Amino acid sequence: MSLHKELIERDRKVTFHASTHLRDFAHGDAPGRVITGGKGINIVDKDGREFIDGFAGLYCVNIGYGRTEVAEAIYKQALELSYYHTYVGHSNEPQIELSEKILKLYGPGMSKVYYGMSGSDANETQLKIVRYYNNVLGRPQKKKVISRMRGYHGSGIASGSLTGLKAFHDHFDLPIETIRHTEAPYYYHRGADQQGMSEREFSRYCARKLEEMILDEGPDTVAAFIGEPVLGTGGIVPPPEGYWDEIQAVLAKYDVLLIADEVVCGFGRTGTEFGSHHYGIKPDLITVAKGLTSAYQPLSGVIVGDRVWKVLEQGTGEYGPIGHGWTYSGHALGCAAGLANLEIIEREGLTQNAAETGAYLQRQMQVAFGDHPIVGQVRGVGMLAALEFSPNPASRKHFDPALKVGPRISAAALDENLIVRAMPQGDILGFAPPLVATRGEVDEIVARTKRAVDRVTDELAASGDLKG
Ligand SMILES: Cc1ncc(COP(=O)(O)O)c(C=O)c1O
Repeated sequence: MSLHKELIERDRKVTFHASTHLRDFAHGDAPGRVITGGKGINIVDKDGREFIDGFAGLYCVNIGYGRTEVAEAIYKQALELSYYHTYVGHSNEPQIELSEKILKLYGPGMSKVYYGMSGSDANETQLKIVRYYNNVLGRPQKKKVISRMRGYHGSGIASGSLTGLKAFHDHFDLPIETIRHTEAPYYYHRGADQQGMSEREFSRYCARKLEEMILDEGPDTVAAFIGEPVLGTGGIVPPPEGYWDEIQAVLAKYDVLLIADEVVCGFGRTGTEFGSHHYGIKPDLITVAKGLTSAYQPLSGVIVGDRVWKVLEQGTGEYGPIGHGWTYSGHALGCAAGLANLEIIEREGLTQNAAETGAYLQRQMQVAFGDHPIVGQVRGVGMLAALEFSPNPASRKHFDPALKVGPRISAAALDENLIVRAMPQGDILGFAPPLVATRGEVDEIVARTKRAVDRVTDELAASGDLKG
């Protein structure tokens, strides 16, 4: 048995893997892989097989793999101080510098940064802030949070409730009581009654649905709205024209806080520092993770805007120190990694590269798949892209889910040594390469994808599954 196989067999016996078919993996019926290294946009497994990582891990390794500068920054910090807690006003130097840097990158309106370890825990913090905020303001009934169907905000009890994907709710008794889900801004799949609408009209329709929900629930019970600037795990769906303007007008009317979940979009992915900048979003609270450290260390953050911060201060004035904290908040190694990462993004102009090479990626995807017989839509922004498959692109019909077209295409891409992600709901292939990708690397991603899509198209034609 090869060393790789032996490792996988050991793994099957002892590890509970995330988002995995537990029985099949444990019993050897689903594949495993041990990743041992990476450089730039490539990763390598224990057999020495190299893959292009067209999804940057889980859209997080923005600066690419193998950046020794970040490793050195972590090492240097570990030699000085790996950890001390940040309760009751304790701090460390990288935390201070990182907070200054994040606030400067965002621009005016934001006041403080609170740190966690994951996007999920950061969204738990958001929900606690929202509750505390309204309690301090004497509005204890204003607690509900509206998210969107197909939104993704994590997989904890509360953050998983914010998520609007079936697989994250079923069998876990989610969502919890105070969370609601409104219309997804998914123009491509608009309902039968919205077929004649322009994008702008559909955005108004989404805003109307939101307003109806707020009125049905009672505006004095709705505390916040959370959304990703671009729907991510729900299908990589950029918003229709004018969506965020329309939504923000409704939120302002009913005094509902806006949480921008920038876990994917933050730190350059859409070609601007934050997705909020791209779409003119003016959030009260922002969630960040992933690109904050490019995953060289686990670190997330909640960026608190001026309006909310004032109330948090008022609250602790009345009630004493805030009852919220993680042991690892502001972890010195995470903050050191974050600083080194943001320095690389800035110095190498990676946000600009996401805009320019990202535009090239979007064009090349259109060229390769715009008229493809099983591609219903090619979409994206910056270094985020998706192909949505359909047996009949003109009618935007879905494939029979039993055909597992998305997973089959992602498996065919893997045969081409390319990692792209079959998104969890629908036959959608997601792309989110590291922001360091060059035009040549984009060409390679598109070429390998084309071979994979063509291969599965031929299989579907042969099995008679292409009849729209
Ligand atoms: C927009 C968004 N928010 C939150 C999360 C949860 O982050 P984590 O997996 O680090 O808990 C994710 C993860 O993919 C995400 O995409």
